[in-house]
Amino acid sequence: MERGLILLAAALMINVAPAVQGTSHLSFANNTQVNITRDGCGVTKLCVETPDACDPAANTSCLFVSLMTSAMMAPNGTKVAVELSGESMGYIALGLTADPTMGITLLFVCGHTNGSFTFQTANRNNTDSMVSPAETMVQEIQGKVEGNRIMCEFCIPNVNASQTRTTDTTFSVLLGTGVLTGGNVGAFTVSRDSGPLNIADPASNVMSATASPNTTTDATMTTSSSGSLHPCAVLSLLSLFAVVRL
Ligand SMILES: *[C@@H]1O[C@H](CO)[C@@H](O)[C@H](O)[C@H]1NC(C)=O
Ligand SMILES: *[C@@H]1O[C@H](CO)[C@@H](O)[C@H](O)[C@H]1NC(C)=O
Ligand SMILES: *[C@@H]1O[C@H](CO)[C@@H](O)[C@H](O)[C@H]1NC(C)=O
Ligand SMILES: *[C@@H]1O[C@H](CO)[C@@H](O)[C@H](O)[C@H]1NC(C)=O
Ligand SMILES: *[C@@H]1O[C@H](CO)[C@@H](O)[C@H](O)[C@H]1NC(C)=O
Ligand SMILES: *[C@@H]1O[C@H](CO)[C@@H](O)[C@H](O)[C@H]1NC(C)=O
Ligand SMILES: *[C@@H]1O[C@H](CO)[C@@H](O)[C@H](O)[C@H]1NC(C)=O
Repeated sequence: MERGLILLAAALMINVAPAVQGTSHLSFANNTQVNITRDGCGVTKLCVETPDACDPAANTSCLFVSLMTSAMMAPNGTKVAVELSGESMGYIALGLTADPTMGITLLFVCGHTNGSFTFQTANRNNTDSMVSPAETMVQEIQGKVEGNRIMCEFCIPNVNASQTRTTDTTFSVLLGTGVLTGGNVGAFTVSRDSGPLNIADPASNVMSATASPNTTTDATMTTSSSGSLHPCAVLSLLSLFAVVRL
């Protein structure tokens, strides 16, 4: 389609009902504790946060996301393990977009309603900023709420940006907040726009004197594939299961 960011299984596309927001695209994990720190930032995981370099373990108002990709598997792309932490009366969200000025942003929304953790996916139209429900597949979701502090972890399978970029893993990473109104995802207020980053390179936003902020291409992919323990590694079987269920 116009800005295909993620290739979803054909089976999933068929499952999308026009007016009804289902939850079969989401699967939850309940066996582990959410524990989000800066450990590994720039080395094993790509971190984006605001204020700059804030530590989510030290300051609850630090709006923080980390992304860890697994090895690319054509034609589906990569799996991305996400950690997201921040404060909001409603929700905090990660946005992935090929270009924040056009097309859409995929939103991954962790929020709280009456003290309970909620997870939703939505699309933001980058032209008019309208947010609408979308059934993006997400797995291994876990979350924790303490007052207005929200922490969550999840895995996004099949991430591929190549229809709009020269590399399959170049996205602008957006961080922001919003309200949940009657369970619906309200307008997304962007607090941080990373600019284009190679999300497969944990160091792609680590500034150096010689690199320009937009230098995000090429050879550094080896960094992430060397790690033996990817948080989404157990998903091969689960994804198969998810597709069969549809
Ligand atoms: C790509 O995704 C489809 C549907 O989920 C799956 O059947 C297939 O095995 C995947 N291919 C690879 C190389 O992971
Ligand atoms: C979550 O808990 C339920 C019941 O307690 C269990 O059946 C299910 O397998 C668990 N899911 C995971 C991913 O561990
Ligand atoms: C969270 O993880 C860090 C290492 O990443 C560890 O040092 C710390 O003890 C963990 N905290 C909890 C509550 O599990
Ligand atoms: C936490 O971050 C906020 C916002 O940047 C700042 O005002 C506050 O001083 C920080 N608190 C601590 C304990 O560092
Ligand atoms: C990304 O998608 C394109 C076309 O849709 C495909 O040619 C390419 O192999 C995919 N890349 C990966 C790493 O899956
Ligand atoms: C939250 O609590 C209020 C008051 O108890 C209730 O009216 C409302 O339905 C609850 N919302 C949800 C989503 O459970
Ligand atoms: C985004 O909004 C604009 C203006 O309302 C509309 O023309 C366009 O079709 C929308 N794009 C998508 C992908 O929905």
